[in-house]
Amino acid sequence: MKVVKLELQERSYPIIITKDDFKNLAGRLKALALGNQAFIISNPIISRLYGPGLKTALSNVGINSVIYNIKDSESSKSIAQYIKTISKISSIDTKKRLFCVALGGGVVGDLTGFVAATYKRGIPYIQVPTTLLAQVDSAIGGKTAIDLASGKNLVGAFFQPKLVYSNVSLLGSLPARQISSGLAEVVKYGMIIDKDLFAFLEKNYQKILNSDKESLIRIISTASKIKAHIVANDEKETKGLRTILNFGHTIGHALETATDYTNLNHGEAISIGMVAACQIAQEIGILEPKVEQRLIDLLVKFNLPIKAKKVDLKKVYQAFYRDKKFINGKIRMVVPSRIGHVIVTEDIPFKIIQKIIKRSIS
Ligand code: GLY
Repeated sequence: MKVVKLELQERSYPIIITKDDFKNLAGRLKALALGNQAFIISNPIISRLYGPGLKTALSNVGINSVIYNIKDSESSKSIAQYIKTISKISSIDTKKRLFCVALGGGVVGDLTGFVAATYKRGIPYIQVPTTLLAQVDSAIGGKTAIDLASGKNLVGAFFQPKLVYSNVSLLGSLPARQISSGLAEVVKYGMIIDKDLFAFLEKNYQKILNSDKESLIRIISTASKIKAHIVANDEKETKGLRTILNFGHTIGHALETATDYTNLNHGEAISIGMVAACQIAQEIGILEPKVEQRLIDLLVKFNLPIKAKKVDLKKVYQAFYRDKKFINGKIRMVVPSRIGHVIVTEDIPFKIIQKIIKRSIS
């Protein structure tokens, strides 16, 4: 087991990376004294697999719990689902002290966090992420949000969980494609800040793909440490540091939007976005070509795409213009200068970006 601390004064919290069952989690919850009624938000598949074990562990430490399932899709991050969820909480909110548990991936985590942030002006919640992507990224950091028809994550709050419990044993049921999607975010951490992590991934990719638990614990705890460090130093993305987490996301998001979040999952989109960011860095003369090749070799090992198929170029440009990273007529991009280091620049001519987007589509 590894414990990473996210340091935010009175809002600090531990991130536990383990392969053990829920007994340890229940003990920690008892010690934290968050409440004696847990409202667990999950999805039907995950709650069938892990709900009973979690409920029993909680009950053994005197915490009553109910499970509330939502559909496992972005459509659950809607105003309608938010109101349904918060109404359900209010209907069971008796004299017991209530807290929320997010048992699922990014969708469950984002909705739960926002529900917890806003119900009665804020109640405690914890994250129990069940996808690799959530364990290395979305469960950590306190950005919570739901979507509007006009865009993703437009209604939200910064609201930190009290605990993140990343159990690699919960990843056993995850389809290989989703493991690869999470690995794209891990590769991202290597590219932006940690060349040793990048080298570890290159050397141990086979073990990681075979779900070797120790290797997974190693990469999840390293990723958690990096994310915790960045969030601790720039919680609300006002100091520029958190921006580097957007490496690969500018073009990646445009691809996701242009394809209506259908043919590419998040990790696949940022995989293509990271390669594109390398090409932009080469165009502006700050990156040697061999870095792009090393990145491509690693992404291919993890079964991640480096080009998008069947995407309407016009839609990608449109999505790009609408993206909030477009500031005063210029795009803010995070581009690498070597493995383990990136710079944030607002000076990239749109012509270069257009050329690279075109190259990213086969
Ligand atoms: N919840 C994800 C983040 O704060 O980055």
